[in-house]
Amino acid sequence: MLEREDALKLLADENFEPNLMQHALASEAVLEALARRFELPEEEVKLWAMTGLLHDVDYPRTKDDPARHGLEAEAILTGKLPAEAVYAIKAHNGECTGVQPESRFDFALRCGETVTGLISAAALVRPNGLEGMEPKSLKKKMKDKAFAASVNRETIRECEKIGLELDEFLRISIDAMRKMES
Ligand SMILES: [Fe+2]
Repeated sequence: MLEREDALKLLADENFEPNLMQHALASEAVLEALARRFELPEEEVKLWAMTGLLHDVDYPRTKDDPARHGLEAEAILTGKLPAEAVYAIKAHNGECTGVQPESRFDFALRCGETVTGLISAAALVRPNGLEGMEPKSLKKKMKDKAFAASVNRETIRECEKIGLELDEFLRISIDAMRKMES
């Protein structure tokens, strides 16, 4: 597997803008926190984190061709990440790639990377950003269809497929992103 430093260099080489890099780092933090919540062995914690970090690696290449998002990533990452990680990355855009999420890892990547969008958007409209953010207020925002409309609520709710209730999932994700900031 890649070293983190090499993964960051790969994202830079793929022309990651600051916003997209922020999303990659937030996804890394959330996936790591989820793996720790499940008390996975250290090697798998690293794999989950690395997969969060790299899941959108092909985004700059595919932003005008969403059906390719995840498939180009496979070409970039094969040989660099284990097959299960490449599968999870294709399944994170299963709606377009037709690759269905199956494992806990697949669903964790889907809900974990998606919730970062909700949390980042919520932090922007709060005076203290992530500080003091509560799952309850995020759940309210989820009900407001106009708020961060591109963030798929159904995908966030897939946390139930990895055995986490929405409240706990949101709490873990907020905490992970706050730690990342500090
Ligand atoms: Fe993403």
